[in-house]
Amino acid sequence: MADIQLAKSPSSPLSSGVAFQQCINPLCRATLDIGQVRTACDRCGDLLDIQYDWSQIEVPNRMSDFEQMWTKRYEPLRFSGVWRFHELIQFAPADKVVTVGEGQTLLQQANEVAKFVGQNEGNLYLQYEGMNPSGSFKDNGMCAAFTHAHMTGAKRAACASTGNTSASLAMYSSVTRLMKAIIFIGSGKISYGKLSQALEYGALTIQLAGDFDDAMIRVKEVSQSLGIYLVNSINPFRIEGQKSVMFRVLEALRWEVPDWIVVPGGNLGNSSAFGKAFQELKLLGLIDRIPRLAVINAAGADTLHQLYERRGLRWQDGQPNNTLISDYYAELDHRKAKADTIASAIEINRPVNLKKCLRALDACDGVVRKVTDQEILDAKAQVGAGGIGCEPASAASVAGAKLLRAEGVIAPSDRVVCILTGHQLKDPTATVAYHTTDQEQFNNVLGSRGVSRASFANRAVAVPNDLDAIMRAIQLYS
Ligand code: F0G
Repeated sequence: MADIQLAKSPSSPLSSGVAFQQCINPLCRATLDIGQVRTACDRCGDLLDIQYDWSQIEVPNRMSDFEQMWTKRYEPLRFSGVWRFHELIQFAPADKVVTVGEGQTLLQQANEVAKFVGQNEGNLYLQYEGMNPSGSFKDNGMCAAFTHAHMTGAKRAACASTGNTSASLAMYSSVTRLMKAIIFIGSGKISYGKLSQALEYGALTIQLAGDFDDAMIRVKEVSQSLGIYLVNSINPFRIEGQKSVMFRVLEALRWEVPDWIVVPGGNLGNSSAFGKAFQELKLLGLIDRIPRLAVINAAGADTLHQLYERRGLRWQDGQPNNTLISDYYAELDHRKAKADTIASAIEINRPVNLKKCLRALDACDGVVRKVTDQEILDAKAQVGAGGIGCEPASAASVAGAKLLRAEGVIAPSDRVVCILTGHQLKDPTATVAYHTTDQEQFNNVLGSRGVSRASFANRAVAVPNDLDAIMRAIQLYS
Protein backbone atom coordinates (compact mmCIF):
# COMPACT_ATOMS: atom_id res chain seq x y z
CA MET A 1 0.00 0.00 0.00
CA ALA A 2 2.87 2.37 0.73
CA ASP A 3 3.24 3.58 -2.82
CA ILE A 4 -0.37 4.67 -3.16
CA GLN A 5 -0.65 6.78 -0.07
CA LEU A 6 1.41 9.82 -0.87
CA ALA A 7 1.03 9.86 -4.55
CA LYS A 8 3.31 11.79 -6.84
CA SER A 9 2.15 12.68 -10.29
CA PRO A 10 5.17 14.39 -11.85
CA SER A 11 3.63 14.81 -15.28
CA SER A 12 0.77 16.85 -13.88
CA PRO A 13 1.71 18.35 -10.54
CA LEU A 14 -0.95 19.68 -8.26
CA SER A 15 -0.09 23.27 -7.63
CA SER A 16 -0.81 25.31 -4.57
CA GLY A 17 -0.98 29.09 -4.47
CA VAL A 18 -4.09 29.29 -6.63
CA ALA A 19 -6.52 28.33 -3.89
CA PHE A 20 -7.65 30.22 -0.84
CA GLN A 21 -10.36 30.00 1.80
CA GLN A 22 -13.21 32.47 1.85
CA CYS A 23 -16.23 33.20 4.01
CA ILE A 24 -19.49 32.34 2.23
CA ASN A 25 -21.21 35.46 3.56
CA PRO A 26 -21.16 38.03 0.73
CA LEU A 27 -21.18 40.90 3.22
CA CYS A 28 -18.00 39.53 4.82
CA ARG A 29 -16.01 37.62 2.19
CA ALA A 30 -12.99 37.45 4.52
CA THR A 31 -10.20 35.37 3.00
CA LEU A 32 -7.71 33.01 4.56
CA ASP A 33 -4.57 31.34 3.32
CA ILE A 34 -5.04 27.75 2.18
CA GLY A 35 -2.68 26.52 4.91
CA GLN A 36 -4.84 27.78 7.78
CA VAL A 37 -6.99 25.39 9.78
CA ARG A 38 -10.47 26.78 10.46
CA THR A 39 -14.02 25.53 10.31
CA ALA A 40 -15.61 28.99 10.49
CA CYS A 41 -14.82 32.54 9.46
CA ASP A 42 -12.78 34.38 12.13
CA ARG A 43 -14.58 37.62 11.39
CA CYS A 44 -18.28 36.65 11.23
CA GLY A 45 -18.46 32.96 12.18
CA ASP A 46 -20.06 31.87 8.90
CA LEU A 47 -19.00 28.80 6.92
CA LEU A 48 -15.88 28.80 4.75
CA ASP A 49 -15.46 27.83 1.11
CA ILE A 50 -12.42 26.86 -0.91
CA GLN A 51 -12.09 29.27 -3.82
CA TYR A 52 -9.71 29.28 -6.75
CA ASP A 53 -8.05 31.84 -8.93
CA TRP A 54 -9.20 30.08 -12.09
CA SER A 55 -7.13 32.38 -14.29
CA GLN A 56 -4.04 30.63 -12.92
CA ILE A 57 -5.30 27.09 -13.42
CA GLU A 58 -5.08 25.19 -16.66
CA VAL A 59 -8.57 23.77 -16.78
CA PRO A 60 -9.36 21.46 -19.72
CA ASN A 61 -11.40 23.08 -22.47
CA ARG A 62 -14.02 20.35 -22.42
CA MET A 63 -15.16 17.93 -19.75
CA SER A 64 -14.39 15.10 -22.16
CA ASP A 65 -10.70 16.01 -21.91
CA PHE A 66 -10.77 14.37 -18.49
CA GLU A 67 -11.18 11.02 -20.25
CA GLN A 68 -7.52 11.18 -21.19
CA MET A 69 -6.66 10.92 -17.49
CA TRP A 70 -7.71 7.27 -17.62
CA THR A 71 -4.79 6.49 -19.89
CA LYS A 72 -2.57 7.22 -16.88
CA ARG A 73 -4.33 4.93 -14.45
CA TYR A 74 -0.96 3.60 -13.32
CA GLU A 75 -0.45 6.95 -11.58
CA PRO A 76 -2.29 6.88 -8.23
CA LEU A 77 -3.53 10.42 -8.68
CA ARG A 78 -5.15 9.53 -11.97
CA PHE A 79 -6.50 6.22 -10.67
CA SER A 80 -8.34 8.05 -7.89
CA GLY A 81 -11.89 8.99 -8.88
CA VAL A 82 -11.36 12.21 -6.94
CA TRP A 83 -7.86 13.38 -7.85
CA ARG A 84 -8.09 12.66 -11.56
CA PHE A 85 -10.27 15.78 -11.57
CA HIS A 86 -7.56 17.67 -9.71
CA GLU A 87 -7.75 20.65 -12.05
CA LEU A 88 -11.13 21.27 -10.42
CA ILE A 89 -9.99 20.43 -6.85
CA GLN A 90 -6.64 22.10 -6.76
CA PHE A 91 -5.42 23.08 -3.34
CA ALA A 92 -2.63 20.64 -2.45
CA PRO A 93 0.92 20.03 -3.63
CA ALA A 94 1.28 16.57 -5.19
CA ASP A 95 3.59 15.22 -2.50
CA LYS A 96 0.93 15.82 0.13
CA VAL A 97 -2.02 14.30 -1.67
CA VAL A 98 -3.48 11.27 0.08
CA THR A 99 -5.34 8.58 -1.84
CA VAL A 100 -6.33 5.00 -1.20
CA GLY A 101 -7.95 4.58 -4.61
CA GLU A 102 -11.29 6.15 -3.67
CA GLY A 103 -14.01 6.99 -6.15
CA GLN A 104 -14.10 3.84 -8.31
CA THR A 105 -17.86 4.00 -8.36
CA LEU A 106 -20.60 3.06 -10.79
CA LEU A 107 -23.54 4.80 -12.41
CA GLN A 108 -26.09 2.14 -13.22
CA GLN A 109 -29.20 2.47 -15.34
CA ALA A 110 -31.73 0.70 -13.11
CA ASN A 111 -34.88 -0.17 -14.99
CA GLU A 112 -36.63 -2.12 -12.25
CA VAL A 113 -36.12 0.79 -9.87
CA ALA A 114 -37.32 3.13 -12.64
CA LYS A 115 -40.56 1.17 -12.74
CA PHE A 116 -40.92 1.45 -8.95
CA VAL A 117 -40.26 5.20 -9.07
CA GLY A 118 -42.48 5.75 -12.11
CA GLN A 119 -39.78 6.84 -14.55
CA ASN A 120 -39.67 5.80 -18.17
CA GLU A 121 -37.36 2.90 -18.88
CA GLY A 122 -33.78 4.11 -19.18
CA ASN A 123 -34.33 7.34 -17.27
CA LEU A 124 -33.44 6.33 -13.73
CA TYR A 125 -29.79 5.98 -12.70
CA LEU A 126 -28.23 4.92 -9.42
CA GLN A 127 -24.83 6.30 -8.47
CA TYR A 128 -23.27 3.64 -6.22
CA GLU A 129 -21.01 5.45 -3.81
CA GLY A 130 -21.05 2.40 -1.55
CA MET A 131 -18.28 1.04 -3.78
CA ASN A 132 -15.75 3.32 -2.10
CA PRO A 133 -13.00 1.65 -0.02
CA SER A 134 -14.73 2.33 3.31
CA GLY A 135 -18.14 1.63 1.80
CA SER A 136 -19.61 5.12 1.55
CA PHE A 137 -19.35 8.42 -0.33
CA LYS A 138 -17.40 9.85 2.60
CA ASP A 139 -14.08 8.74 1.09
CA ASN A 140 -14.49 11.34 -1.67
CA GLY A 141 -14.39 14.12 0.88
CA MET A 142 -12.17 12.44 3.43
CA CYS A 143 -9.22 12.07 1.06
CA ALA A 144 -9.39 15.84 0.50
CA ALA A 145 -9.75 16.80 4.18
CA PHE A 146 -7.10 14.26 5.15
CA THR A 147 -4.79 15.72 2.51
CA HIS A 148 -5.27 19.19 3.96
CA ALA A 149 -4.70 17.85 7.48
CA HIS A 150 -1.46 16.29 6.27
CA MET A 151 -0.45 19.55 4.52
CA THR A 152 -0.85 21.40 7.78
CA GLY A 153 1.13 18.84 9.79
CA ALA A 154 -1.79 17.52 11.85
CA LYS A 155 -1.09 14.44 13.93
CA ARG A 156 -4.62 13.89 15.22
CA ALA A 157 -7.92 14.16 13.35
CA ALA A 158 -11.42 13.98 14.80
CA CYS A 159 -15.05 13.81 13.73
CA ALA A 160 -18.52 13.34 15.12
CA SER A 161 -20.33 10.72 13.14
CA THR A 162 -23.42 8.69 12.49
CA GLY A 163 -20.90 6.06 11.41
CA ASN A 164 -19.67 6.57 7.88
CA THR A 165 -17.49 9.62 8.42
CA SER A 166 -15.86 7.83 11.32
CA ALA A 167 -15.30 4.65 9.28
CA SER A 168 -13.71 6.70 6.53
CA LEU A 169 -11.48 8.73 8.84
CA ALA A 170 -10.43 5.58 10.70
CA MET A 171 -9.57 3.93 7.37
CA TYR A 172 -7.42 6.80 6.07
CA SER A 173 -5.67 7.03 9.42
CA SER A 174 -4.85 3.37 9.66
CA VAL A 175 -3.89 2.85 6.02
CA THR A 176 -1.57 5.86 5.94
CA ARG A 177 -0.42 5.88 9.58
CA LEU A 178 -0.20 9.65 9.18
CA MET A 179 -2.40 10.56 12.14
CA LYS A 180 -4.52 9.20 14.94
CA ALA A 181 -8.28 9.11 14.38
CA ILE A 182 -10.53 10.22 17.22
CA ILE A 183 -14.21 9.65 16.64
CA PHE A 184 -17.28 10.83 18.56
CA ILE A 185 -20.41 8.74 18.20
CA GLY A 186 -23.80 8.87 19.87
CA SER A 187 -24.20 5.91 22.18
CA GLY A 188 -26.33 3.23 20.47
CA LYS A 189 -26.75 5.51 17.48
CA ILE A 190 -24.57 3.89 14.86
CA SER A 191 -25.05 0.64 13.04
CA TYR A 192 -22.78 -2.29 13.77
CA GLY A 193 -21.29 -2.37 10.29
CA LYS A 194 -19.93 1.14 10.73
CA LEU A 195 -18.91 0.75 14.37
CA SER A 196 -17.03 -2.43 13.52
CA GLN A 197 -14.95 -0.52 10.97
CA ALA A 198 -13.89 2.23 13.37
CA LEU A 199 -13.04 -0.27 16.12
CA GLU A 200 -11.10 -2.62 13.89
CA TYR A 201 -9.18 0.18 12.16
CA GLY A 202 -8.02 1.35 15.56
CA ALA A 203 -9.74 4.71 16.00
CA LEU A 204 -9.99 6.15 19.48
CA THR A 205 -13.77 5.81 19.85
CA ILE A 206 -15.57 8.18 22.19
CA GLN A 207 -19.09 6.89 22.81
CA LEU A 208 -21.07 9.86 24.02
CA ALA A 209 -24.31 9.68 25.99
CA GLY A 210 -26.22 11.64 23.37
CA ASP A 211 -26.96 11.73 19.66
CA PHE A 212 -25.12 13.03 16.60
CA ASP A 213 -26.14 16.64 17.22
CA ASP A 214 -24.67 16.44 20.75
CA ALA A 215 -21.51 14.75 19.46
CA MET A 216 -21.06 17.45 16.81
CA ILE A 217 -21.15 20.22 19.42
CA ARG A 218 -18.65 18.39 21.61
CA VAL A 219 -16.20 17.48 18.88
CA LYS A 220 -16.03 21.13 17.78
CA GLU A 221 -15.27 22.22 21.34
CA VAL A 222 -12.70 19.49 21.90
CA SER A 223 -10.88 19.92 18.62
CA GLN A 224 -10.59 23.65 19.17
CA SER A 225 -9.31 23.26 22.74
CA LEU A 226 -6.83 20.50 21.95
CA GLY A 227 -5.81 21.64 18.46
CA ILE A 228 -7.13 18.49 16.79
CA TYR A 229 -7.92 18.65 13.05
CA LEU A 230 -11.69 18.39 12.48
CA VAL A 231 -12.83 16.42 9.41
CA ASN A 232 -16.61 16.76 9.53
CA SER A 233 -18.15 18.31 6.43
CA ILE A 234 -18.10 21.70 8.18
CA ASN A 235 -14.51 21.44 6.96
CA PRO A 236 -14.55 23.08 3.50
CA PHE A 237 -11.95 20.67 2.08
CA ARG A 238 -14.41 17.79 2.53
CA ILE A 239 -16.81 19.60 0.22
CA GLU A 240 -14.10 19.95 -2.44
CA GLY A 241 -13.56 16.19 -2.61
CA GLN A 242 -17.27 15.46 -2.71
CA LYS A 243 -17.67 17.60 -5.84
CA SER A 244 -16.08 14.68 -7.69
CA VAL A 245 -19.23 12.56 -7.27
CA MET A 246 -20.91 14.90 -9.75
CA PHE A 247 -17.91 14.88 -12.09
CA ARG A 248 -18.14 11.09 -12.24
CA VAL A 249 -21.90 11.19 -12.82
CA LEU A 250 -21.32 13.50 -15.80
CA GLU A 251 -18.49 11.30 -17.01
CA ALA A 252 -20.71 8.20 -16.91
CA LEU A 253 -23.39 10.10 -18.87
CA ARG A 254 -20.74 11.02 -21.45
CA TRP A 255 -20.82 14.60 -20.19
CA GLU A 256 -24.52 15.11 -20.67
CA VAL A 257 -26.15 16.94 -17.77
CA PRO A 258 -29.08 14.96 -16.27
CA ASP A 259 -32.36 16.67 -15.34
CA TRP A 260 -32.31 15.77 -11.66
CA ILE A 261 -29.85 14.84 -8.95
CA VAL A 262 -31.62 13.33 -5.94
CA VAL A 263 -29.62 12.98 -2.73
CA PRO A 264 -30.34 12.16 0.91
CA GLY A 265 -29.85 15.10 3.27
CA GLY A 266 -28.23 14.75 6.69
CA ASN A 267 -25.48 17.19 7.56
CA LEU A 268 -25.95 18.55 4.00
CA GLY A 269 -22.36 18.23 2.86
CA ASN A 270 -23.17 16.34 -0.33
CA SER A 271 -25.91 18.67 -1.49
CA SER A 272 -23.61 21.64 -0.78
CA ALA A 273 -20.77 20.02 -2.70
CA PHE A 274 -22.95 19.13 -5.68
CA GLY A 275 -24.26 22.67 -5.97
CA LYS A 276 -20.73 24.09 -5.80
CA ALA A 277 -19.53 21.60 -8.43
CA PHE A 278 -22.21 22.64 -10.91
CA GLN A 279 -21.79 26.35 -10.22
CA GLU A 280 -18.07 26.08 -10.91
CA LEU A 281 -18.50 23.97 -14.05
CA LYS A 282 -21.00 26.51 -15.39
CA LEU A 283 -18.69 29.41 -14.51
CA LEU A 284 -15.86 27.68 -16.36
CA GLY A 285 -18.07 27.08 -19.40
CA LEU A 286 -17.69 23.30 -19.04
CA ILE A 287 -21.45 22.69 -18.86
CA ASP A 288 -24.25 24.74 -20.37
CA ARG A 289 -26.93 24.08 -17.80
CA ILE A 290 -27.28 23.03 -14.18
CA PRO A 291 -29.49 20.05 -13.18
CA ARG A 292 -32.21 20.41 -10.59
CA LEU A 293 -31.39 19.20 -7.10
CA ALA A 294 -33.73 17.33 -4.77
CA VAL A 295 -32.60 16.89 -1.17
CA ILE A 296 -34.47 14.21 0.75
CA ASN A 297 -34.80 14.23 4.53
CA ALA A 298 -36.05 11.37 6.65
CA ALA A 299 -39.38 12.38 8.19
CA GLY A 300 -37.88 11.92 11.66
CA ALA A 301 -34.99 14.32 10.92
CA ASP A 302 -36.54 16.94 8.69
CA THR A 303 -35.03 20.29 9.63
CA LEU A 304 -34.20 21.25 6.05
CA HIS A 305 -37.67 20.30 4.87
CA GLN A 306 -39.31 22.29 7.65
CA LEU A 307 -37.21 25.37 7.05
CA TYR A 308 -37.12 25.33 3.25
CA GLU A 309 -40.53 24.02 2.26
CA ARG A 310 -42.69 25.02 5.21
CA ARG A 311 -41.14 28.26 6.46
CA GLY A 312 -39.72 29.61 3.23
CA LEU A 313 -36.06 29.84 4.26
CA ARG A 314 -33.98 30.78 1.23
CA TRP A 315 -30.37 31.66 0.41
CA GLN A 316 -31.34 35.26 -0.45
CA ASP A 317 -28.02 36.16 -2.03
CA GLY A 318 -26.18 34.97 1.04
CA GLN A 319 -28.45 36.66 3.56
CA PRO A 320 -30.81 33.90 4.73
CA ASN A 321 -33.22 34.82 7.48
CA ASN A 322 -31.24 33.68 10.53
CA THR A 323 -34.21 34.24 12.80
CA LEU A 324 -36.14 31.49 11.01
CA ILE A 325 -33.28 29.13 11.80
CA SER A 326 -32.76 30.14 15.41
CA ASP A 327 -36.52 30.10 16.13
CA TYR A 328 -36.78 26.60 14.70
CA TYR A 329 -33.87 25.34 16.81
CA ALA A 330 -35.37 27.00 19.90
CA GLU A 331 -38.60 25.12 19.18
CA LEU A 332 -36.70 21.84 18.92
CA ASP A 333 -35.04 22.59 22.28
CA HIS A 334 -38.36 23.55 23.84
CA ARG A 335 -39.96 20.29 22.66
CA LYS A 336 -36.79 18.40 23.61
CA ALA A 337 -37.09 17.00 20.07
CA LYS A 338 -34.46 14.52 18.97
CA ALA A 339 -33.93 13.19 15.46
CA ASP A 340 -35.33 9.68 15.06
CA THR A 341 -35.20 7.50 11.96
CA ILE A 342 -34.21 4.00 10.88
CA ALA A 343 -31.91 5.80 8.43
CA SER A 344 -29.41 6.41 11.23
CA ALA A 345 -26.87 7.99 8.87
CA ILE A 346 -29.15 11.00 8.42
CA GLU A 347 -30.54 11.13 11.95
CA ILE A 348 -29.52 14.77 12.30
CA ASN A 349 -31.58 17.77 13.36
CA ARG A 350 -28.95 20.51 13.17
CA PRO A 351 -27.20 20.20 9.82
CA VAL A 352 -23.92 22.11 9.89
CA ASN A 353 -23.97 22.90 6.16
CA LEU A 354 -27.48 24.33 6.16
CA LYS A 355 -26.47 27.64 4.55
CA LYS A 356 -24.30 26.09 1.87
CA CYS A 357 -27.17 23.75 1.06
CA LEU A 358 -29.49 26.75 0.68
CA ARG A 359 -26.98 28.16 -1.78
CA ALA A 360 -26.98 24.88 -3.70
CA LEU A 361 -30.79 24.75 -3.76
CA ASP A 362 -30.80 28.31 -5.09
CA ALA A 363 -28.27 27.53 -7.83
CA CYS A 364 -29.99 24.27 -8.81
CA ASP A 365 -33.65 25.35 -8.60
CA GLY A 366 -33.89 22.78 -5.83
CA VAL A 367 -36.66 21.15 -3.88
CA VAL A 368 -36.68 19.38 -0.51
CA ARG A 369 -38.89 16.48 0.49
CA LYS A 370 -39.20 14.18 3.46
CA VAL A 371 -39.94 10.46 3.33
CA THR A 372 -41.07 8.05 6.04
CA ASP A 373 -39.07 5.10 7.31
CA GLN A 374 -41.63 2.83 5.60
CA GLU A 375 -40.98 4.54 2.26
CA ILE A 376 -37.22 4.37 2.82
CA LEU A 377 -37.22 0.65 3.57
CA ASP A 378 -39.49 -0.23 0.65
CA ALA A 379 -37.24 1.77 -1.69
CA LYS A 380 -34.19 0.11 -0.17
CA ALA A 381 -35.67 -3.35 -0.82
CA GLN A 382 -36.28 -2.41 -4.45
CA VAL A 383 -32.72 -1.19 -4.87
CA GLY A 384 -31.35 -4.28 -3.14
CA ALA A 385 -33.41 -6.56 -5.38
CA GLY A 386 -31.32 -5.15 -8.23
CA GLY A 387 -28.24 -6.75 -6.73
CA ILE A 388 -26.14 -3.84 -5.54
CA GLY A 389 -27.86 -2.79 -2.36
CA CYS A 390 -27.60 0.26 -0.17
CA GLU A 391 -28.08 1.27 3.43
CA PRO A 392 -31.36 2.86 4.59
CA ALA A 393 -30.27 6.52 4.37
CA SER A 394 -29.20 6.04 0.77
CA ALA A 395 -32.61 4.73 -0.23
CA ALA A 396 -34.15 8.03 0.86
CA SER A 397 -33.04 9.33 -2.54
CA VAL A 398 -35.07 6.68 -4.40
CA ALA A 399 -38.07 7.12 -2.08
CA GLY A 400 -37.80 10.88 -2.65
CA ALA A 401 -37.67 10.48 -6.42
CA LYS A 402 -40.80 8.31 -6.25
CA LEU A 403 -42.59 10.97 -4.22
CA LEU A 404 -41.56 13.77 -6.60
CA ARG A 405 -42.70 11.68 -9.55
CA ALA A 406 -46.07 11.05 -7.88
CA GLU A 407 -46.41 14.79 -7.27
CA GLY A 408 -45.62 15.48 -10.92
CA VAL A 409 -42.54 17.55 -10.03
CA ILE A 410 -40.34 15.01 -11.80
CA ALA A 411 -41.66 14.02 -15.24
CA PRO A 412 -41.43 10.37 -16.37
CA SER A 413 -39.21 11.46 -19.26
CA ASP A 414 -36.75 13.33 -16.99
CA ARG A 415 -33.31 11.81 -16.59
CA VAL A 416 -32.91 11.25 -12.88
CA VAL A 417 -29.79 10.29 -10.92
CA CYS A 418 -30.31 9.03 -7.36
CA ILE A 419 -27.20 8.98 -5.20
CA LEU A 420 -26.75 5.77 -3.19
CA THR A 421 -24.48 7.03 -0.46
CA GLY A 422 -23.60 3.89 1.48
CA HIS A 423 -23.13 0.15 1.03
CA GLN A 424 -25.84 -2.34 1.90
CA LEU A 425 -23.64 -4.15 4.45
CA LYS A 426 -23.30 -1.01 6.57
CA ASP A 427 -26.56 -1.70 8.37
CA PRO A 428 -27.54 -5.38 8.25
CA THR A 429 -29.87 -5.03 11.25
CA ALA A 430 -32.41 -2.93 9.34
CA THR A 431 -32.20 -5.18 6.29
CA VAL A 432 -32.62 -8.46 8.15
CA ALA A 433 -35.48 -7.04 10.23
CA TYR A 434 -37.28 -6.03 7.01
CA HIS A 435 -36.96 -9.51 5.51
CA THR A 436 -37.47 -11.49 8.71
CA THR A 437 -40.21 -14.01 9.45
CA ASP A 438 -39.86 -13.21 13.15
CA GLN A 439 -42.61 -10.73 14.01
CA GLU A 440 -40.97 -9.85 17.31
CA GLN A 441 -37.72 -8.91 15.61
CA PHE A 442 -39.65 -6.89 13.02
CA ASN A 443 -41.54 -5.02 15.72
CA ASN A 444 -38.47 -4.39 17.85
CA VAL A 445 -36.37 -2.89 15.08
CA LEU A 446 -38.97 -1.40 12.73
CA GLY A 447 -42.40 -1.39 14.33
CA SER A 448 -41.37 1.23 16.86
CA ARG A 449 -40.58 3.52 13.92
CA GLY A 450 -43.98 3.29 12.28
CA VAL A 451 -42.99 0.63 9.78
CA SER A 452 -45.97 -1.72 9.54
CA ARG A 453 -45.28 -3.85 6.49
CA ALA A 454 -42.51 -5.28 4.37
CA SER A 455 -44.14 -5.39 0.94
CA PHE A 456 -40.95 -6.40 -0.83
CA ALA A 457 -39.60 -8.84 1.75
CA ASN A 458 -37.74 -11.94 0.61
CA ARG A 459 -38.31 -14.24 3.55
CA ALA A 460 -36.10 -17.17 4.44
CA VAL A 461 -37.84 -20.56 4.26
CA ALA A 462 -37.43 -22.54 7.47
CA VAL A 463 -37.13 -26.30 7.01
CA PRO A 464 -36.36 -29.22 9.28
CA ASN A 465 -33.03 -30.95 8.75
CA ASP A 466 -34.64 -33.49 6.43
CA LEU A 467 -33.68 -34.12 2.81
CA ASP A 468 -37.25 -34.59 1.52
CA ALA A 469 -38.49 -31.49 3.29
CA ILE A 470 -35.61 -29.45 1.88
CA MET A 471 -36.28 -30.65 -1.66
CA ARG A 472 -40.04 -30.07 -1.29
CA ALA A 473 -39.38 -26.49 -0.18
CA ILE A 474 -37.13 -25.87 -3.17
CA GLN A 475 -39.70 -27.30 -5.60
CA LEU A 476 -42.42 -25.20 -4.01
CA TYR A 477 -40.60 -21.87 -4.00
CA SER A 478 -38.37 -21.88 -7.07
N1 F0G B 1 -26.04 8.89 3.47
C1 F0G B 1 -25.16 8.28 4.26
C2 F0G B 1 -24.95 6.82 4.06
C3 F0G B 1 -24.45 9.01 5.23
O1 F0G B 1 -23.57 8.39 6.00
C4 F0G B 1 -24.71 10.38 5.39
C5 F0G B 1 -24.03 11.16 6.40
C6 F0G B 1 -25.64 10.96 4.53
C7 F0G B 1 -26.29 10.20 3.59
C8 F0G B 1 -25.94 12.41 4.61
O2 F0G B 1 -25.00 13.13 3.90
O3 F0G B 1 -24.35 14.79 5.59
O4 F0G B 1 -23.75 15.05 3.21
O5 F0G B 1 -26.12 15.32 3.95
N2 F0G B 1 -23.36 10.67 7.33
C9 F0G B 1 -22.57 11.45 8.26
C10 F0G B 1 -21.66 10.57 9.08
C11 F0G B 1 -23.29 12.46 9.01
O6 F0G B 1 -21.30 10.94 10.19
O7 F0G B 1 -21.26 9.52 8.59
P1 F0G B 1 -24.80 14.68 4.18
